[in-house]
Amino acid sequence: MTTPVPFLRLTDVHKSFGAVHALRGVDITVEAGTIHALVGENGAGKSTLGKVMAGLHRPDRGTVQVQGRTVDLQSPRDALGHGITIVAQELALVEPRSVLENVYLGSEPHRGPVVRTRLLRRWFAELTERTGIAVPPDACVQDLSIADQQKVEILRALARGAEAIVMDEPTARLASHEAEGLVTILRQLAASGTTIVYVSHFLDEVLQVADRVTVLRDGQLVSTSPADDHTADSLVEAMVGRSLASAFPAKQLPASAAPLLEVENLGRDGVFAGIDLEVRPGEVVVITGLVGAGRSEVLQCIVGDRRADHGTVRLCGATKRFRHPRAAVDAGIAYVPESRKTHGLLLETSVNGNVSLPQLKKLTRGLSISRARERELVAAAITRVGVKAANPALPVSTLSGGNQQKVLFAKALSGDPVLLVADEPTRGVDVQAKRQIYDVLVDLASRGLGVLVVSSEMEEVLGLAHRVVVMRTGRVAGQLAGPDITEANIAALAFDRPAGGSPSNDAGGTS
Ligand SMILES: Nc1ncnc2c1ncn2[C@@H]1O[C@H](COP(=O)(O)OP(=O)(O)OP(=O)(O)O)[C@@H](O)[C@H]1O
Ligand SMILES: [Mg+2]
Repeated sequence: MTTPVPFLRLTDVHKSFGAVHALRGVDITVEAGTIHALVGENGAGKSTLGKVMAGLHRPDRGTVQVQGRTVDLQSPRDALGHGITIVAQELALVEPRSVLENVYLGSEPHRGPVVRTRLLRRWFAELTERTGIAVPPDACVQDLSIADQQKVEILRALARGAEAIVMDEPTARLASHEAEGLVTILRQLAASGTTIVYVSHFLDEVLQVADRVTVLRDGQLVSTSPADDHTADSLVEAMVGRSLASAFPAKQLPASAAPLLEVENLGRDGVFAGIDLEVRPGEVVVITGLVGAGRSEVLQCIVGDRRADHGTVRLCGATKRFRHPRAAVDAGIAYVPESRKTHGLLLETSVNGNVSLPQLKKLTRGLSISRARERELVAAAITRVGVKAANPALPVSTLSGGNQQKVLFAKALSGDPVLLVADEPTRGVDVQAKRQIYDVLVDLASRGLGVLVVSSEMEEVLGLAHRVVVMRTGRVAGQLAGPDITEANIAALAFDRPAGGSPSNDAGGTS
């Protein structure tokens, strides 16, 4: 008996970007039909390694073997030719088209100039049947949830003959029940022979889904071992080189002063209605609920990123109607939006430029910007949230995903806010950086700021909140404070189920 040939073997792989040595001699073997996780802190080199596997980066040194043969993957197309593709951190679908079109884009069967739609439909039916991944073929991709868009990406990869799929933080933008669905799909794919390389910061999820786990630190391989040999704590220790005391800072009791932020009967037609909430100085209020419950839209209406149709927003007692987030910033609201790509950052601008952007007025004397003051302000802001940037004069696009998130935070905090509003503040951020962001939030609150956060992560809600606002389908389903903040109570409100766990029988209860 011979041992099976591994699907992928990378030997002594190096990759540098200018002065940054992102991969330093990595050896990794990925067996066919397994789920192989890559974990590590922000900037450890996970995405870079995934991109080398998928032909997006060529290694400076080292070899890549696919099914025992040495290959030179010069492009994603090349990699796909060898059966490897990547589902990136940000999805890449052609949105205004149907699911069917997205899955087969560029590989449609033709008869003359005409696409053979009936044949396509048959292929699609076979593919969904074989994989157990269900998405309606005629739905427009932009109307789908992130979870369904991701399924379309996976189907597309499979339709193009991918035998190995690199998934870079696939669950970072999913609600927990959607993440479980994805995990089930990936397990099924692996069982039928597809090889999955899985990048994630959710360690419990990694331990649940992966067969083997590779830990990277500063571009080097720390270890590869069976998932069964690890616990979440042992992974953290391997990632950061020491054990971490606890994930959350201690909660401090908020002062019982007049509210900083009062939201009354806020509504946006067709999205949410009747939202009442308050944030007091020193208080961390977390809005949670299922993805799509309208949480982000509520924040956006508060800070003027969208128009509310009803209701009032008061800041420090004064009624406000912000027409633009800039106006909210000027009034003392620091806003960290959900998507760093589309809302928060100018990716091709330097870290310095991004962080100081909201403060340009303060930094300008006459017609010139004081570069020295800018550097000072930026240095203070990025140290505070622990951004790892080799050189803050380089574009934000050169930072790892998690470090981009921290830049967003540094930018929001560079002013002198009275209220911090943040949408999924730790998405894509590693355990240590999460703790840094939590420390920042708790520190701000202890200095009398109000903190209003949208979060889907149960741990985070439980660990941070003085008060929890649970939203369900555009309404406040309930608010919880102090000892009532429990996982069972939150889930009961979010899913409209009694805390006991059995489904409710009233109208609108889902089955
Ligand atoms: N195109 C690039 N240009 C310059 N530097 C880069 C580029 N891509 C990655 N880097 C750098 O390489 C290092 C590794 O980045 P990588 O994106 O692989 O990290 P990661 O482990 O995926 O982190 P995260 O968890 O934050 O996504 C980082 O220091 C990053 O700044
Ligand atoms: Mg990454």
